[in-house]
Amino acid sequence: MDGELKVLWARRRMPVLEKLRTEKKGTLRGVKVAACLHVTAETANLALALKEAGAQVRLCASNPLSTQDDVAEYLRGEGVEVFAKRGEGEEEYWEHIRLCAEWGPDITLDDGADLTAYMHKNPELARGVRGGTEETTTGVLRLRALEREGRLLYPVIAVNESKTKFLFDNRYGTGQSTVDGVLRATNILIAGRKAAVAGYGWCGRGIAMRLRAMGARVMVIEVDPVKALEALMDGYDVVTVEEAVREADLLITATGNKGVVRREHLEAAKDGIILANAGHFDVEIDVKALREMALSSRPLRPNLVEYELPGGKRVYLLAEGRLVNLGAAEGHPSEVMDLSFSNQFLAVFRILEGGLEPRVHVLPPEIDERIARLKLEAMGGRLESLTEEQVRYLASWQEGT
Ligand code: NAI
Repeated sequence: MDGELKVLWARRRMPVLEKLRTEKKGTLRGVKVAACLHVTAETANLALALKEAGAQVRLCASNPLSTQDDVAEYLRGEGVEVFAKRGEGEEEYWEHIRLCAEWGPDITLDDGADLTAYMHKNPELARGVRGGTEETTTGVLRLRALEREGRLLYPVIAVNESKTKFLFDNRYGTGQSTVDGVLRATNILIAGRKAAVAGYGWCGRGIAMRLRAMGARVMVIEVDPVKALEALMDGYDVVTVEEAVREADLLITATGNKGVVRREHLEAAKDGIILANAGHFDVEIDVKALREMALSSRPLRPNLVEYELPGGKRVYLLAEGRLVNLGAAEGHPSEVMDLSFSNQFLAVFRILEGGLEPRVHVLPPEIDERIARLKLEAMGGRLESLTEEQVRYLASWQEGT
């Protein structure tokens, strides 16, 4: 496909970033931004917005399977240095991160904290960095761990914690694109199938919601009693992994944890079960155990591998157990990345304002509100306003029955 046209198509669906892009033209001169993000058409628009603002941009992938090579090629032609190739091996993946880290960036943008962790394992690289951003839940968890150990060397803005990020990207973005990934890899009928979703956080609830809307009978697996209860009252069956694998035709993990589907579950799984992961790293399904247990395996379709287990049972794994929405589809729709990347873009300016301690920060609520207003307007929603009397009432204690 033509990378340029793909980026243009995405750009027209990212009106908030577009507005900020015009507003901030030429205001980042001389700033070096190293970004470790999924190399998609939406990321291209973020990189180009930074470039138009005057920054020099280096980009590497935050997942070996998510790079859109045509987009990477187009970006290179536009003066963004891209070090990423779809299907790159582990060694090449880290080599690309090294090339971004050793470049001496002022700012790091990250999705999953691999680049930030690399800078912190080589502290001399972190010295000149003014700050960083983090896009996803798993990355924020890793950064908070660094902070707890007192080892965070520069301030990082947890973009994931903005409401205009997690409420939309994690829920609607992951919800839709995960189902998209499953469909592109398998072309199965969702209606009437039994599906299980592990994790009822923002991603998991988006996936469960979309699967149910397409007619699946959905089970939820949770370890948090409150989230489990929410899932139950939202109308899902709440079950253990052991129960889910015996019944489900499709099981999707979205927990941000490791070892959710383990050897014992694979042994007990129903014949023909399809396994996919939407959590950040490929550690949620024990793919190693699956490969060890298998008598044979063969790719049946792009991003779909069949494993034959002892006794003749078949288990199907999508996108190697990596993020299925990015491996087997194109990641989140542009409309939702408009919100996430507007947060990323403004976070860069917040870092450059200075005054942030080397800790994990969140963006101020005014930024969330501004982004939400712009998006609402762009999508044709109209906001009611409070009357003066209502403002007074909400701030008072005197009036009651
Ligand atoms: P979250 O923290 O809102 O939800 C995770 C849920 O998983 C929690 O409710 C937790 O109790 C549950 N959980 C943890 N261990 C579990 C286990 N062993 N079994 C069952 N449930 C378990 O996190 P969020 O935002 O939903 O993110 C989940 C993962 O998805 C993270 O790795 C995040 O980085 C990733 N992510 C992926 C995206 C994608 O494009 N595929 C987009 C955004 C986030």
